[in-house]
Amino acid sequence: MWRRSLSSRLILYWIVGSLLVFFSTPVTVQIPLAFFWGRDHSHAPEVWTTKRAREAVIDALRRAPDGTLYVEPTEALRKHKERNPDFRYAVFDPATGALLPGSSADLAENFKALMGNVEVFGSLFHLSNDANVRARGYIRTTVTPFGKLGTIVYGSNFHWDDVFYQLHAYLVTENLLAYLPLCALISIIGFSVVRGGLAPVRMAAGKIRQMDVDTLNQRIPDANLPSEILPFVEAVNDAFQRVHEGVARQRRFAANSAHELRTPIAILCARLDKMEDGPLKREMQRDASRIKTILEQLLVLAQIEERGDANGTPELDLPEAIRSTIADYMPIAFDNNRHIDYDAPDAKIIVRGYRWAVESVVTNLIENAARAEPNGGTIIVRVLTNATVEVVDHGPGIALADREMIFEPFWRKSDATRGTGLGLAIAKELMDKLGGRIWVEETPGGGATFKLAFPTNMSSMFRPFTQNHDSKRQKL
Ligand SMILES: Nc1ncnc2c1ncn2[C@@H]1O[C@H](COP(=O)(O)OP(=O)(O)OP(=O)(O)O)[C@@H](O)[C@H]1O
Ligand SMILES: [Mg+2]
Repeated sequence: MWRRSLSSRLILYWIVGSLLVFFSTPVTVQIPLAFFWGRDHSHAPEVWTTKRAREAVIDALRRAPDGTLYVEPTEALRKHKERNPDFRYAVFDPATGALLPGSSADLAENFKALMGNVEVFGSLFHLSNDANVRARGYIRTTVTPFGKLGTIVYGSNFHWDDVFYQLHAYLVTENLLAYLPLCALISIIGFSVVRGGLAPVRMAAGKIRQMDVDTLNQRIPDANLPSEILPFVEAVNDAFQRVHEGVARQRRFAANSAHELRTPIAILCARLDKMEDGPLKREMQRDASRIKTILEQLLVLAQIEERGDANGTPELDLPEAIRSTIADYMPIAFDNNRHIDYDAPDAKIIVRGYRWAVESVVTNLIENAARAEPNGGTIIVRVLTNATVEVVDHGPGIALADREMIFEPFWRKSDATRGTGLGLAIAKELMDKLGGRIWVEETPGGGATFKLAFPTNMSSMFRPFTQNHDSKRQKL
């Protein structure tokens, strides 16, 4: 996972890169600079040499069985002396000035006045009476394994391998540890910069996630996008544009096809009417009427987009629109020995929606309910003050598992029933377009209760391209 994260990759590269710099700078920058740009009398390489000599002296400190400290002429000191014939050293007690055995007395002689009186924090020096003008020494009070002691070294010459000694000094653990907080700080900065920089990308992703076939005319905002991401978002927007045009083409094609089929169907119906009465005529008329219904429904679906009004959705009085729909359907219900009870508040309930759309949805629900309602039963249509409509029947109801499926186009519980299975799909499509919702519940005591929630405020106007409440639904 971390390999996919831009910020962790950036931080990893930064850490690896800075570690490389950390380890290579002493070789590539510090040592060459110190070597070539050292100031008068204190060329850095000479300081390294004297420091190295001092360390060899401290390593040679020993305590005799009687407790006295002394400097043992160790192998390291002997080798150093071999390479630097003028090398001398002295160690003294900084409190008393007493010289430790093994020290060079004549070197210490030069510092007699200081020893025991002054604490020296480190000083490079040259003995003026020394003919070798390049000879350097170093005096310093040092904390050694045997306590605080004064050390003096003199007469070491710079050798190339002193560079390695100094390199090691640069790369000690303390320096590496000092680097860690800096590393952590830059990691935090790197992480927040990448996160902040990618915030518009996350916003764009959220927007893309909301896109569906109804919102294809919308575009992902590209303001504030990092220039590296911009081409990607532009490509996505171009793709949406192409898909949008393709979908519009297909919708036009479906609408035109359905429209074109109307005339031959009308002619077919007219010709059937002229046929002699008989069972065949009645069957063919039923078939033709079914084809006609399917065609009408396909037309409604195909025209949904075109019939949206760019100037906004008109307002309508919900109880009044439903009352007139029921009035139209009442005779049919009566003929089929079903009754319709209408229950609505007296006050107006203003919702946003097209009358044809509301009528189409409610008629479909009443038709379904009338088909489900037992012979002689009563369908209840209820309008609630919160702009919700309920169509209640007492039929077999809708099984829990089918409650999503019934809104799919052409879905029918059984082929034995009349109908095409398009009614609820169209109702859902229209409710989505209105910015409302349709769902089904169980009628207490058995049956199905279909519910419609209509939008009442300005924010949910009928828009040809509105955001869906149910992204899972399928389109025709
Ligand atoms: N009130 C209801 N009670 C029981 N089942 C129902 C009810 N309403 C719908 N259904 C089931 O859902 C299916 C789909 O309904 P839908 O209205 O989409 O299609 P249809 O009524 O079969 O045909 P169309 O409405 O296109 O003429 C129905 O065939 C029926 O099986
Ligand atoms: Mg139906």
